Amino acid sequence: MKKIIVTGALGQIGSELITKLRSEYGVDNVLATDIRHPNTGAAARGPFEILDVTDAKKMHTLANDFGADTMMHMAALLSAKAEENPMLAWNLNMGGLMNALEVSRELNLQFFTPSSIGAFGPSTPKKGTPQDTLQRPTTMYGVNKVAGELLCDYYFNKYGLDTRGVRFPGLISNVAKPGGGTTDYAVDIYYKALEEGKYTSYIAEGTYMDMMYMPDALQAIVDLLEADPAKLVHRNAFNVTAMSFEPSEIAASIKKQIPDFEIAYEVDPIRQAIADSWPDAIDPSTAIKEWGFKAAYNLDKMTIDMLEKLKIKLNK
Ligand code: SER
Repeated sequence: MKKIIVTGALGQIGSELITKLRSEYGVDNVLATDIRHPNTGAAARGPFEILDVTDAKKMHTLANDFGADTMMHMAALLSAKAEENPMLAWNLNMGGLMNALEVSRELNLQFFTPSSIGAFGPSTPKKGTPQDTLQRPTTMYGVNKVAGELLCDYYFNKYGLDTRGVRFPGLISNVAKPGGGTTDYAVDIYYKALEEGKYTSYIAEGTYMDMMYMPDALQAIVDLLEADPAKLVHRNAFNVTAMSFEPSEIAASIKKQIPDFEIAYEVDPIRQAIADSWPDAIDPSTAIKEWGFKAAYNLDKMTIDMLEKLKIKLNK
């Protein structure tokens, strides 16, 4: 049975990862940590500790006292926020990751951290983006992610640390809203569809990005954690994706459920530039081959589920 410490447990992925891990491995075997206290939600319903990931000493103490055998490092600033404050992003994203890797080395923990489609840049092939390809990102977030991927490989090769990771696309969920990402429009649009019947997109029509529904992302994390290490040629930064769409396509999918729904555009140049520097559609075949990655939700199936769940959440 695993004993898992999770950083960033109140973040976009963390808030739902906690529920998933506690149902797989038992409530008391998952220690949720974050920089702030949970008022409600999954993190509050089980072991929780305050942790600023730049505090290596406290991270070590918490992991050690909990008897952790696994570290899931989720705390990070997303792409648009990182562009607003590059130094903060460097200190938090890289400082936090180095601390988490070092604590994992000292305590010999299995290690997971997510990379992102943000680890690619304008010179990366845009369609069918291969697992191993050019990575010259032009954002601070991307620089952090590439360095993170390399560091995770380094800790595996140098110390034999059991590091594992994926490159997530934009993640869409009905539980926690993302904050400060470029792909956030694909979450906001569902809320606004129910609240106002219309949405103004800050991403231009025709801009394709990879996306995935959160249940598939969580399953991918557990599947990779449990994967037979003998089958892993790569360890970190596996391309995973479930769909690629542009704003008018997600709008059309919503229209099938809410016929009067309308989309308009008011492009934010900063987030648009980030989106333009990322691939249109990455190739997940390496993850499929090495550990059986699969996604259950396509765009329409996700739309139906999102709207159903949000109707209850928003009392609509
Ligand atoms: N969803 C993230 C972002 O937009 C990508 O990793 O920043």
